[in-house]
Amino acid sequence: TKVYVPRDSAALAVGADSVAKAIVAEGIRRGVEVQLVRNGSRGLLWMEPLVEVETPEGRVGYAEVGMADVASLFDADFLNGGQHKTRIGLVEEIPYLKKQERLTFARCGITDPISVADYKKHIGYEGVARALQMSPESIVQEVTDSGLRGRGGAAFPTGIKWKTVLGAVADQKYIVCNADEGDSGTFADRMIMEGDPHLLIEGMLIAGIAVGATKGFIYIRSEYPEAYYVLQEAIKAAKEAGYLGSNIQGSGKSFELEARLAAGSYVCGEETALLESLEGRRGIVRAKPPLPALEGLFGKPTVINNVLSFAAVPTILAQGANFYMNYGSGRSRGTLPFQLAGNLRYGGLVEKAFGLTLRELLFDFGGGTATGKPMKAVQVGGPLGAYLPESQWDTPMDYEAFAAIGAVLGHGGVVAFDETVDMSKMARYAMEFCALESCGKCTPCRIGSTRGVEVVDRMKNGEEPQAQEILLRDLCDTMLNGSLCAMGGMTPYPVLSALNHYPKDFQPNTNKTT
Ligand code: NAI
Ligand code: SF4
Repeated sequence: TKVYVPRDSAALAVGADSVAKAIVAEGIRRGVEVQLVRNGSRGLLWMEPLVEVETPEGRVGYAEVGMADVASLFDADFLNGGQHKTRIGLVEEIPYLKKQERLTFARCGITDPISVADYKKHIGYEGVARALQMSPESIVQEVTDSGLRGRGGAAFPTGIKWKTVLGAVADQKYIVCNADEGDSGTFADRMIMEGDPHLLIEGMLIAGIAVGATKGFIYIRSEYPEAYYVLQEAIKAAKEAGYLGSNIQGSGKSFELEARLAAGSYVCGEETALLESLEGRRGIVRAKPPLPALEGLFGKPTVINNVLSFAAVPTILAQGANFYMNYGSGRSRGTLPFQLAGNLRYGGLVEKAFGLTLRELLFDFGGGTATGKPMKAVQVGGPLGAYLPESQWDTPMDYEAFAAIGAVLGHGGVVAFDETVDMSKMARYAMEFCALESCGKCTPCRIGSTRGVEVVDRMKNGEEPQAQEILLRDLCDTMLNGSLCAMGGMTPYPVLSALNHYPKDFQPNTNKTT
């Protein structure tokens, strides 16, 4: 019987490895055949370790399994889907999963991440098969027509970026994947790399074929050792199956791929600092122009995209631009894998077409706060995203609707806070974070962030609070308009949203809620 125990870091953190070992050992002890598969996570994080068993009716799940449950699971005949206190029924029927629209995450948690055969059984490598029969221009056109926009946060049209690289004349071009997923509360990139790495490999390969690049790099944050390991194994398997290296599937085209570990700096997620780091230098932001699309890695034309952007591409090629385009709302086409985190009862991965509201995510999926206390603020789009009060939770999740309220969707991270949060502390933290992570190249960010911490402190200490507020707003204005990159340029988002929506929290030495 096939038994699935996730190898995703979220499952490992709650003991999945020991559970997997115990299941194998108990199987041997009882003389029962167990075929263990270490899959990715389904993204129902509160259920981990979620053990699944293949039965004729479908995959039956056993949630929050601990070492101590293993013997009783065998007693309960779990290999045939037997009753047990941890049994949650058919996994596909869990409403949290069933209500989703999983395109990018269609396979995550279902397949063996490293197996090419398993990937292919689930429409894997069909996108590249189609791409190999198309001209570079028509691949780029297909991506453009799908409406895909950069999933790292900036939402720049992916097809237009690729077109710039395709049009550049050079002896060498590169494909670089930004897997330096530094935003607080985000984990979608990691889940793909650990749970469905061939999807990323295929997306990068298609990009390479489209723009004429023969070499790719995946820049992975050092905090993701498991993702690094799984990717390397998957790269090896893809090479053996003829999807990487020279003469890919007999096409005469070549593409080499390498995973590189980053050194633990938030700003290295900024594309030009990332390129500096990849070239072996300190991660300092470069001025743009020139765009990386024209002068990127080692000065050569480079497609640099986020994991989720590349991971959307195989579906677009395999199922067509229209298929992808039909999901979404307004100018935000397709789906976004949202990541629910912070003070929520049901944290996890929710992939949905753009257009649902934040409230649906927070309550229909997230189940409200984990503490049961009223929810007070929600930060969307990472540490540089705005804090949204309840009056804004009915905003549809799409890039333009968020921009209209002075907020960002970013990489789809959603972090909830209950009424005990002091928003002046969150504003102070945003400035502190910026001071810590600033690359130091420009003054508004390098100096402004430190001054920002001091100004918030003076407000809270009651030292001319009104004058301090004017100063803080002025400082935010300078950082917004005068910073070279999003680090300094977006730090005002959390600061100003906290100040505008929760003014009472900024009153001298009070923890009162608004
Ligand atoms: P940007 O707007 O400067 O650029 C977006 C992308 O489009 C870049 O790759 C740029 O090189 C490219 N581009 C722009 N014009 C182009 C053209 N004409 N041809 C070809 N390519 C072109 O934004 P940036 O600074 O790259 O990203 C900022 C965003 O990053 C923020 O909105 C934030 O949400 C997000 N972010 C994400 C994090 C994460 O962990 N995923 C962490 C921090 C910020
Ligand atoms: Fe560096 Fe900050 Fe300026 Fe960005 S805004 S270039 S991180 S100093």
